[in-house]
Amino acid sequence: MRKFANWPTTYPAPDWFIHDRFGLFIHFGLFSVGARHEWYMTTEEIDPKTYRETYFDGFDPDLFDAKRWAKAAKSAGITYMVFTTKHHEGFALWDSQFTDYKITNTPFKRDLLAELLPAFRQEGIKVGLYHSLIDWYHPHFSLDGLHPQRNHQEARLNNDQRNMTLYQDFIAHQVEELVTQYGKIDYMWFDFPYSHRDWGWSKGKGPLDWDSLRLETICRTHQPDMLLNDRLALGRGITTPEQFQPEKPFEKDGLPVLWEACQTMYGTWGYDRDAQEWKSSDMLLKMLIDTVAKNGNFLLNIGPNARGEIDPRTRERLQAIGEWMRLNKQSIIGCGPSMYSPPTDCRYTQNGLKLYLHIFSYPYKQLYIRDIAKKVRSIRLLTDGSEIFYRGYDPQEVITSTEETIGPDDLLVALPIVKPDTLIPVLEITLHESDEKNGSFPL
Ligand code: GLC
Repeated sequence: MRKFANWPTTYPAPDWFIHDRFGLFIHFGLFSVGARHEWYMTTEEIDPKTYRETYFDGFDPDLFDAKRWAKAAKSAGITYMVFTTKHHEGFALWDSQFTDYKITNTPFKRDLLAELLPAFRQEGIKVGLYHSLIDWYHPHFSLDGLHPQRNHQEARLNNDQRNMTLYQDFIAHQVEELVTQYGKIDYMWFDFPYSHRDWGWSKGKGPLDWDSLRLETICRTHQPDMLLNDRLALGRGITTPEQFQPEKPFEKDGLPVLWEACQTMYGTWGYDRDAQEWKSSDMLLKMLIDTVAKNGNFLLNIGPNARGEIDPRTRERLQAIGEWMRLNKQSIIGCGPSMYSPPTDCRYTQNGLKLYLHIFSYPYKQLYIRDIAKKVRSIRLLTDGSEIFYRGYDPQEVITSTEETIGPDDLLVALPIVKPDTLIPVLEITLHESDEKNGSFPL
Protein backbone atom coordinates (compact mmCIF):
# COMPACT_ATOMS: atom_id res chain seq x y z
CA MET A 1 0.00 0.00 0.00
CA ARG A 2 1.26 3.45 -0.87
CA LYS A 3 2.02 5.53 2.22
CA PHE A 4 0.17 8.67 3.18
CA ALA A 5 0.70 10.79 6.27
CA ASN A 6 -3.01 10.69 7.15
CA TRP A 7 -3.77 7.06 6.30
CA PRO A 8 -3.06 4.34 8.87
CA THR A 9 -2.04 0.88 7.63
CA THR A 10 -5.10 -0.55 9.37
CA TYR A 11 -7.32 1.37 6.93
CA PRO A 12 -8.11 -0.20 3.53
CA ALA A 13 -5.93 0.72 0.56
CA PRO A 14 -7.37 3.91 -0.96
CA ASP A 15 -6.42 2.88 -4.50
CA TRP A 16 -9.76 3.50 -6.19
CA PHE A 17 -9.93 6.95 -4.64
CA ILE A 18 -6.52 8.02 -5.88
CA HIS A 19 -7.31 6.63 -9.29
CA ASP A 20 -10.82 8.04 -9.71
CA ARG A 21 -10.05 11.67 -8.86
CA PHE A 22 -13.41 13.24 -9.71
CA GLY A 23 -16.41 12.97 -7.38
CA LEU A 24 -19.86 14.53 -7.13
CA PHE A 25 -21.10 15.95 -3.84
CA ILE A 26 -24.89 16.11 -3.60
CA HIS A 27 -26.50 18.31 -0.96
CA PHE A 28 -30.19 17.61 -0.67
CA GLY A 29 -32.61 17.95 2.23
CA LEU A 30 -35.38 20.10 3.68
CA PHE A 31 -33.07 23.09 3.18
CA SER A 32 -33.52 22.64 -0.58
CA VAL A 33 -37.03 24.08 -0.09
CA GLY A 34 -35.79 27.23 1.64
CA ALA A 35 -33.37 27.51 -1.28
CA ARG A 36 -31.12 30.03 0.40
CA HIS A 37 -28.29 28.19 2.20
CA GLU A 38 -28.27 24.85 3.97
CA TRP A 39 -27.60 26.64 7.27
CA TYR A 40 -30.60 28.99 7.38
CA MET A 41 -32.23 26.94 10.16
CA THR A 42 -29.57 28.33 12.45
CA THR A 43 -28.64 31.63 10.81
CA GLU A 44 -32.33 32.61 11.00
CA GLU A 45 -32.73 30.93 14.41
CA ILE A 46 -35.71 28.83 13.40
CA ASP A 47 -36.71 26.44 16.18
CA PRO A 48 -37.03 22.74 15.27
CA LYS A 49 -40.82 22.68 15.64
CA THR A 50 -41.38 25.59 13.25
CA TYR A 51 -38.79 24.22 10.83
CA ARG A 52 -40.56 20.88 10.81
CA GLU A 53 -43.98 22.45 10.21
CA THR A 54 -42.68 24.69 7.47
CA TYR A 55 -40.41 22.35 5.53
CA PHE A 56 -41.01 18.74 6.58
CA ASP A 57 -44.79 18.59 6.49
CA GLY A 58 -44.98 19.50 2.81
CA PHE A 59 -41.73 17.98 1.54
CA ASP A 60 -42.34 16.38 -1.82
CA PRO A 61 -39.57 16.30 -4.47
CA ASP A 62 -42.06 14.95 -7.00
CA LEU A 63 -39.70 15.14 -9.99
CA PHE A 64 -36.93 13.18 -8.30
CA ASP A 65 -35.61 10.49 -10.60
CA ALA A 66 -32.52 8.68 -9.34
CA LYS A 67 -31.63 7.51 -12.83
CA ARG A 68 -31.54 11.06 -14.16
CA TRP A 69 -29.19 12.18 -11.41
CA ALA A 70 -26.96 9.19 -12.00
CA LYS A 71 -26.89 9.76 -15.75
CA ALA A 72 -26.09 13.44 -15.31
CA ALA A 73 -23.18 12.46 -13.08
CA LYS A 74 -21.98 9.78 -15.45
CA SER A 75 -22.00 12.05 -18.47
CA ALA A 76 -20.07 14.69 -16.52
CA GLY A 77 -17.26 12.14 -16.18
CA ILE A 78 -17.80 11.63 -12.47
CA THR A 79 -16.60 8.38 -10.90
CA TYR A 80 -17.86 8.56 -7.31
CA MET A 81 -20.50 10.45 -5.40
CA VAL A 82 -21.17 11.58 -1.83
CA PHE A 83 -24.78 12.14 -0.79
CA THR A 84 -26.17 13.92 2.29
CA THR A 85 -28.07 11.26 4.26
CA LYS A 86 -28.56 13.82 7.03
CA HIS A 87 -27.40 17.42 7.17
CA HIS A 88 -27.20 19.61 10.28
CA GLU A 89 -30.98 20.13 10.17
CA GLY A 90 -31.34 16.50 11.35
CA PHE A 91 -33.67 15.25 8.62
CA ALA A 92 -33.05 11.65 7.49
CA LEU A 93 -33.24 10.97 3.76
CA TRP A 94 -33.67 7.23 4.29
CA ASP A 95 -36.21 5.09 6.09
CA SER A 96 -34.54 5.15 9.49
CA GLN A 97 -35.96 3.10 12.35
CA PHE A 98 -34.54 5.51 14.87
CA THR A 99 -36.45 8.69 14.07
CA ASP A 100 -39.81 9.78 12.72
CA TYR A 101 -38.10 12.83 11.17
CA LYS A 102 -37.44 10.99 7.94
CA ILE A 103 -38.33 11.19 4.28
CA THR A 104 -40.77 8.27 4.35
CA ASN A 105 -42.96 10.30 6.73
CA THR A 106 -43.22 13.25 4.34
CA PRO A 107 -45.76 13.48 1.49
CA PHE A 108 -42.98 12.09 -0.74
CA LYS A 109 -43.16 8.81 1.24
CA ARG A 110 -40.37 7.05 -0.69
CA ASP A 111 -36.97 6.00 0.68
CA LEU A 112 -34.84 8.26 -1.50
CA LEU A 113 -31.54 6.65 -0.54
CA ALA A 114 -32.82 3.20 -1.50
CA GLU A 115 -33.51 4.52 -5.01
CA LEU A 116 -30.41 6.65 -5.32
CA LEU A 117 -27.63 4.21 -4.50
CA PRO A 118 -28.57 1.44 -6.97
CA ALA A 119 -29.02 4.01 -9.76
CA PHE A 120 -25.49 5.33 -9.28
CA ARG A 121 -23.99 1.88 -8.88
CA GLN A 122 -25.74 0.91 -12.11
CA GLU A 123 -23.74 3.64 -13.87
CA GLY A 124 -20.51 2.31 -12.38
CA ILE A 125 -20.23 5.20 -9.93
CA LYS A 126 -18.97 4.47 -6.41
CA VAL A 127 -21.18 5.65 -3.59
CA GLY A 128 -20.37 7.67 -0.49
CA LEU A 129 -22.53 8.98 2.33
CA TYR A 130 -22.21 12.38 3.95
CA HIS A 131 -23.52 12.25 7.50
CA SER A 132 -23.76 15.23 9.81
CA LEU A 133 -22.41 14.77 13.31
CA ILE A 134 -24.29 17.93 14.19
CA ASP A 135 -28.05 17.62 14.64
CA TRP A 136 -30.17 20.68 15.32
CA TYR A 137 -33.38 18.68 15.51
CA HIS A 138 -32.50 15.98 18.01
CA PRO A 139 -33.82 16.88 21.50
CA HIS A 140 -30.66 15.60 23.21
CA PHE A 141 -28.13 17.38 21.02
CA SER A 142 -27.12 20.12 23.45
CA LEU A 143 -27.37 23.79 22.60
CA ASP A 144 -24.18 25.61 21.72
CA GLY A 145 -23.26 28.75 19.86
CA LEU A 146 -24.11 27.22 16.46
CA HIS A 147 -27.50 25.88 17.51
CA PRO A 148 -30.66 27.58 16.17
CA GLN A 149 -32.05 27.86 19.73
CA ARG A 150 -28.93 29.48 21.14
CA ASN A 151 -30.88 32.63 22.06
CA HIS A 152 -34.06 30.85 23.12
CA GLN A 153 -34.46 31.51 26.83
CA GLU A 154 -36.42 28.43 27.84
CA ALA A 155 -34.33 26.09 25.73
CA ARG A 156 -31.20 27.59 27.25
CA LEU A 157 -32.55 27.07 30.78
CA ASN A 158 -33.27 23.43 30.00
CA ASN A 159 -29.97 22.77 28.26
CA ASP A 160 -28.74 20.64 31.19
CA GLN A 161 -31.51 18.18 30.58
CA ARG A 162 -30.15 17.37 27.17
CA ASN A 163 -28.17 14.17 27.37
CA MET A 164 -25.46 13.81 24.75
CA THR A 165 -25.03 10.14 25.66
CA LEU A 166 -28.48 9.53 24.25
CA TYR A 167 -27.50 11.45 21.14
CA GLN A 168 -24.37 9.31 20.84
CA ASP A 169 -26.53 6.19 20.85
CA PHE A 170 -28.83 7.74 18.29
CA ILE A 171 -26.11 8.67 15.80
CA ALA A 172 -24.36 5.32 16.33
CA HIS A 173 -27.62 3.54 15.49
CA GLN A 174 -28.18 5.71 12.44
CA VAL A 175 -24.69 5.12 11.12
CA GLU A 176 -24.97 1.40 11.77
CA GLU A 177 -28.23 1.36 9.87
CA LEU A 178 -26.67 3.15 6.91
CA VAL A 179 -23.68 0.84 6.69
CA THR A 180 -25.69 -2.36 7.10
CA GLN A 181 -28.95 -1.77 5.22
CA TYR A 182 -27.86 -0.18 1.95
CA GLY A 183 -25.29 -2.53 0.46
CA LYS A 184 -21.67 -1.68 -0.20
CA ILE A 185 -20.76 1.87 0.74
CA ASP A 186 -17.44 3.01 -0.68
CA TYR A 187 -16.88 6.15 1.36
CA MET A 188 -18.24 7.57 4.61
CA TRP A 189 -18.02 11.32 4.92
CA PHE A 190 -18.68 12.82 8.38
CA ASP A 191 -19.20 16.53 9.05
CA PHE A 192 -17.84 18.33 11.21
CA PRO A 193 -15.90 18.99 14.47
CA TYR A 194 -15.70 22.46 16.00
CA SER A 195 -14.31 21.84 19.48
CA HIS A 196 -12.02 24.85 19.21
CA ARG A 197 -15.06 27.16 19.48
CA ASP A 198 -15.96 28.68 22.83
CA TRP A 199 -18.95 30.92 23.45
CA GLY A 200 -18.50 31.18 27.22
CA TRP A 201 -21.84 29.61 28.11
CA SER A 202 -21.15 26.71 25.73
CA LYS A 203 -18.30 25.09 23.89
CA GLY A 204 -17.96 23.67 20.41
CA LYS A 205 -18.27 19.94 19.86
CA GLY A 206 -15.80 17.32 18.74
CA PRO A 207 -14.88 13.63 18.77
CA LEU A 208 -15.73 13.07 22.45
CA ASP A 209 -19.17 14.63 22.13
CA TRP A 210 -20.47 12.26 19.47
CA ASP A 211 -18.00 9.46 20.28
CA SER A 212 -16.09 9.41 17.02
CA LEU A 213 -14.22 6.24 17.99
CA ARG A 214 -17.47 4.32 18.30
CA LEU A 215 -18.61 5.59 14.90
CA GLU A 216 -15.29 4.66 13.33
CA THR A 217 -15.52 1.15 14.82
CA ILE A 218 -19.03 0.69 13.44
CA CYS A 219 -17.82 1.73 10.00
CA ARG A 220 -14.70 -0.43 10.10
CA THR A 221 -16.61 -3.46 11.39
CA HIS A 222 -19.43 -3.48 8.88
CA GLN A 223 -17.65 -2.05 5.86
CA PRO A 224 -13.94 -2.86 6.14
CA ASP A 225 -13.23 -1.62 2.61
CA MET A 226 -14.99 1.70 3.08
CA LEU A 227 -12.90 4.88 3.11
CA LEU A 228 -13.35 7.57 5.78
CA ASN A 229 -12.80 11.30 5.73
CA ASP A 230 -10.99 13.23 8.43
CA ARG A 231 -13.91 14.94 10.13
CA LEU A 232 -14.33 12.40 12.91
CA ALA A 233 -11.25 14.32 14.12
CA LEU A 234 -9.32 11.21 15.11
CA GLY A 235 -6.18 12.39 13.35
CA ARG A 236 -6.70 10.15 10.32
CA GLY A 237 -8.80 9.96 7.18
CA ILE A 238 -9.01 11.87 3.92
CA THR A 239 -8.29 15.58 4.41
CA THR A 240 -11.21 17.63 3.09
CA PRO A 241 -10.54 21.36 2.68
CA GLU A 242 -13.52 23.39 1.48
CA GLN A 243 -13.51 26.23 -1.05
CA PHE A 244 -9.74 26.24 -1.11
CA GLN A 245 -7.05 25.31 -3.63
CA PRO A 246 -3.57 24.80 -2.15
CA GLU A 247 -0.42 26.11 -3.77
CA LYS A 248 1.19 22.67 -4.01
CA PRO A 249 0.47 19.05 -3.05
CA PHE A 250 -0.18 18.59 0.67
CA GLU A 251 2.63 16.85 2.51
CA LYS A 252 3.33 16.02 6.12
CA ASP A 253 6.46 14.51 7.64
CA GLY A 254 7.81 13.96 4.13
CA LEU A 255 4.79 11.90 3.10
CA PRO A 256 1.97 12.84 0.73
CA VAL A 257 -1.42 13.58 2.29
CA LEU A 258 -4.55 12.00 0.87
CA TRP A 259 -6.86 14.91 0.19
CA GLU A 260 -10.00 16.03 -1.54
CA ALA A 261 -10.94 19.58 -2.59
CA CYS A 262 -14.62 20.16 -1.77
CA GLN A 263 -15.93 22.85 -4.06
CA THR A 264 -19.27 24.45 -4.80
CA MET A 265 -20.58 25.88 -8.07
CA TYR A 266 -21.70 28.99 -6.16
CA GLY A 267 -21.26 30.14 -2.56
CA THR A 268 -23.22 27.48 -0.67
CA TRP A 269 -23.90 23.74 -0.78
CA GLY A 270 -27.68 23.42 -0.78
CA TYR A 271 -29.83 24.67 -3.66
CA ASP A 272 -29.76 28.48 -3.67
CA ARG A 273 -32.28 29.91 -6.08
CA ASP A 274 -30.94 33.46 -6.00
CA ALA A 275 -27.22 32.71 -5.96
CA GLN A 276 -25.29 35.23 -8.02
CA GLU A 277 -21.71 34.12 -7.74
CA TRP A 278 -21.81 31.12 -10.06
CA LYS A 279 -18.41 29.85 -11.12
CA SER A 280 -18.03 29.38 -14.85
CA SER A 281 -17.53 25.90 -16.35
CA ASP A 282 -14.08 27.07 -17.37
CA MET A 283 -13.18 27.97 -13.79
CA LEU A 284 -14.57 24.72 -12.37
CA LEU A 285 -12.61 22.72 -14.90
CA LYS A 286 -9.43 24.57 -14.05
CA MET A 287 -10.05 23.78 -10.40
CA LEU A 288 -10.45 20.09 -11.22
CA ILE A 289 -7.21 20.02 -13.21
CA ASP A 290 -5.37 22.08 -10.62
CA THR A 291 -6.44 19.65 -7.90
CA VAL A 292 -5.22 16.55 -9.75
CA ALA A 293 -1.96 18.36 -10.59
CA LYS A 294 -1.58 18.76 -6.82
CA ASN A 295 -2.26 15.11 -6.06
CA GLY A 296 -5.82 15.66 -4.83
CA ASN A 297 -9.35 14.59 -5.66
CA PHE A 298 -12.02 17.04 -6.74
CA LEU A 299 -15.44 16.76 -5.10
CA LEU A 300 -17.74 19.05 -7.03
CA ASN A 301 -20.99 19.93 -5.33
CA ILE A 302 -24.49 20.18 -6.73
CA GLY A 303 -27.66 21.14 -4.85
CA PRO A 304 -30.75 19.77 -6.58
CA ASN A 305 -33.93 21.82 -6.09
CA ALA A 306 -36.94 21.08 -3.91
CA ARG A 307 -38.72 19.20 -6.69
CA GLY A 308 -35.73 16.90 -6.98
CA GLU A 309 -34.36 18.36 -10.20
CA ILE A 310 -30.87 19.44 -11.12
CA ASP A 311 -31.48 23.02 -12.19
CA PRO A 312 -30.45 24.30 -15.64
CA ARG A 313 -27.47 26.36 -14.43
CA THR A 314 -26.00 23.31 -12.76
CA ARG A 315 -26.82 21.04 -15.68
CA GLU A 316 -25.13 23.40 -18.12
CA ARG A 317 -21.91 23.25 -16.09
CA LEU A 318 -22.00 19.49 -15.69
CA GLN A 319 -22.52 19.14 -19.42
CA ALA A 320 -19.66 21.43 -20.33
CA ILE A 321 -17.31 19.60 -17.97
CA GLY A 322 -18.67 16.31 -19.31
CA GLU A 323 -17.93 17.22 -22.91
CA TRP A 324 -14.38 18.13 -21.93
CA MET A 325 -14.03 14.92 -19.93
CA ARG A 326 -15.26 12.88 -22.88
CA LEU A 327 -12.26 14.06 -24.85
CA ASN A 328 -9.69 14.45 -22.10
CA LYS A 329 -10.50 12.12 -19.23
CA GLN A 330 -7.23 10.22 -19.56
CA SER A 331 -5.52 13.40 -18.37
CA ILE A 332 -7.53 13.24 -15.10
CA ILE A 333 -8.56 9.70 -14.22
CA GLY A 334 -5.58 7.61 -13.13
CA CYS A 335 -3.37 10.70 -13.13
CA GLY A 336 -1.47 12.53 -10.47
CA PRO A 337 1.20 15.19 -10.20
CA SER A 338 4.38 15.36 -12.24
CA MET A 339 7.85 16.26 -11.06
CA TYR A 340 8.32 18.52 -14.08
CA SER A 341 7.54 22.22 -13.83
CA PRO A 342 4.91 23.34 -16.32
CA PRO A 343 5.16 26.46 -18.50
CA THR A 344 3.44 29.66 -17.35
CA ASP A 345 -0.35 29.39 -17.07
CA CYS A 346 -0.27 25.63 -17.50
CA ARG A 347 -0.69 22.54 -15.28
CA TYR A 348 0.86 19.10 -15.65
CA THR A 349 -0.77 15.84 -14.73
CA GLN A 350 0.94 12.54 -15.40
CA ASN A 351 0.22 8.85 -15.73
CA GLY A 352 3.36 6.83 -16.41
CA LEU A 353 4.86 7.83 -19.74
CA LYS A 354 1.98 10.16 -20.55
CA LEU A 355 2.52 13.70 -19.45
CA TYR A 356 -0.51 15.98 -19.89
CA LEU A 357 -0.04 19.68 -20.36
CA HIS A 358 -3.22 21.68 -19.65
CA ILE A 359 -3.08 25.13 -21.21
CA PHE A 360 -5.07 27.46 -18.93
CA SER A 361 -4.31 30.62 -20.83
CA TYR A 362 -3.78 30.13 -24.53
CA PRO A 363 -0.59 31.76 -25.77
CA TYR A 364 0.23 33.04 -29.22
CA LYS A 365 1.48 30.24 -31.43
CA GLN A 366 4.30 28.86 -29.36
CA LEU A 367 4.87 27.35 -25.98
CA TYR A 368 8.22 26.90 -24.27
CA ILE A 369 8.56 23.63 -22.43
CA ARG A 370 11.54 23.53 -20.15
CA ASP A 371 13.84 20.77 -19.01
CA ILE A 372 12.41 17.82 -20.89
CA ALA A 373 13.80 18.13 -24.42
CA LYS A 374 15.65 14.80 -24.36
CA LYS A 375 12.74 12.96 -22.84
CA VAL A 376 9.98 13.68 -25.32
CA ARG A 377 9.02 11.09 -27.87
CA SER A 378 5.95 12.75 -29.40
CA ILE A 379 3.34 15.39 -28.72
CA ARG A 380 -0.27 15.50 -29.81
CA LEU A 381 -3.28 17.62 -29.15
CA LEU A 382 -5.61 15.44 -27.13
CA THR A 383 -8.85 16.99 -28.44
CA ASP A 384 -8.46 15.61 -31.95
CA GLY A 385 -5.30 13.52 -31.66
CA SER A 386 -3.45 15.73 -34.14
CA GLU A 387 0.34 15.83 -34.28
CA ILE A 388 2.03 18.84 -32.72
CA PHE A 389 5.43 19.94 -34.06
CA TYR A 390 8.18 20.90 -31.71
CA ARG A 391 11.88 21.51 -31.90
CA GLY A 392 14.80 21.89 -29.56
CA TYR A 393 17.83 24.09 -29.35
CA ASP A 394 19.92 24.26 -32.50
CA PRO A 395 23.29 26.03 -32.14
CA GLN A 396 23.63 26.26 -35.96
CA GLU A 397 20.44 28.20 -36.33
CA VAL A 398 20.75 31.75 -35.25
CA ILE A 399 17.33 33.17 -34.66
CA THR A 400 18.08 35.87 -32.22
CA SER A 401 15.17 35.79 -29.85
CA THR A 402 14.82 32.01 -29.97
CA GLU A 403 18.44 31.29 -29.31
CA GLU A 404 18.30 33.46 -26.27
CA THR A 405 15.33 31.74 -24.75
CA ILE A 406 15.68 28.07 -25.65
CA GLY A 407 18.28 26.13 -23.70
CA PRO A 408 19.68 22.70 -24.55
CA ASP A 409 16.99 20.99 -22.47
CA ASP A 410 14.08 23.05 -23.70
CA LEU A 411 11.53 22.63 -26.44
CA LEU A 412 9.65 25.09 -28.55
CA VAL A 413 6.19 23.76 -29.34
CA ALA A 414 4.16 25.02 -32.30
CA LEU A 415 0.51 25.46 -31.36
CA PRO A 416 -2.34 26.20 -33.76
CA ILE A 417 -2.78 29.98 -33.83
CA VAL A 418 -6.45 29.78 -32.99
CA LYS A 419 -7.26 28.08 -29.73
CA PRO A 420 -8.88 24.69 -30.42
CA ASP A 421 -12.59 24.69 -29.68
CA THR A 422 -12.42 23.22 -26.20
CA LEU A 423 -12.46 24.81 -22.75
CA ILE A 424 -8.91 23.85 -21.81
CA PRO A 425 -6.66 22.46 -24.57
CA VAL A 426 -4.49 19.54 -23.47
CA LEU A 427 -1.24 18.40 -25.03
CA GLU A 428 -0.43 14.77 -24.53
CA ILE A 429 3.33 14.42 -24.30
CA THR A 430 4.62 10.88 -24.63
CA LEU A 431 7.93 10.34 -22.88
CA HIS A 432 10.66 7.87 -23.79
CA GLU A 433 10.43 4.58 -21.95
CA SER A 434 13.75 5.11 -20.26
CA ASP A 435 12.05 7.95 -18.44
CA GLU A 436 9.39 5.82 -16.87
CA LYS A 437 10.60 6.22 -13.33
CA ASN A 438 11.42 9.82 -13.79
CA GLY A 439 8.57 11.84 -12.39
CA SER A 440 5.87 9.44 -13.33
CA PHE A 441 2.66 8.86 -11.43
CA PRO A 442 1.67 6.54 -9.75
CA LEU A 443 4.66 7.31 -7.58
C1 GLC B 1 -19.46 22.54 5.99
C2 GLC B 1 -20.86 23.00 6.13
C3 GLC B 1 -21.81 22.29 5.33
C4 GLC B 1 -21.34 21.55 4.11
C5 GLC B 1 -19.97 21.01 4.24
C6 GLC B 1 -19.38 20.49 2.96
O1 GLC B 1 -18.95 21.88 7.03
O2 GLC B 1 -21.30 23.00 7.46
O3 GLC B 1 -22.95 23.02 5.12
O4 GLC B 1 -22.17 20.48 4.01
O5 GLC B 1 -19.14 21.89 4.80
O6 GLC B 1 -18.03 20.28 2.99
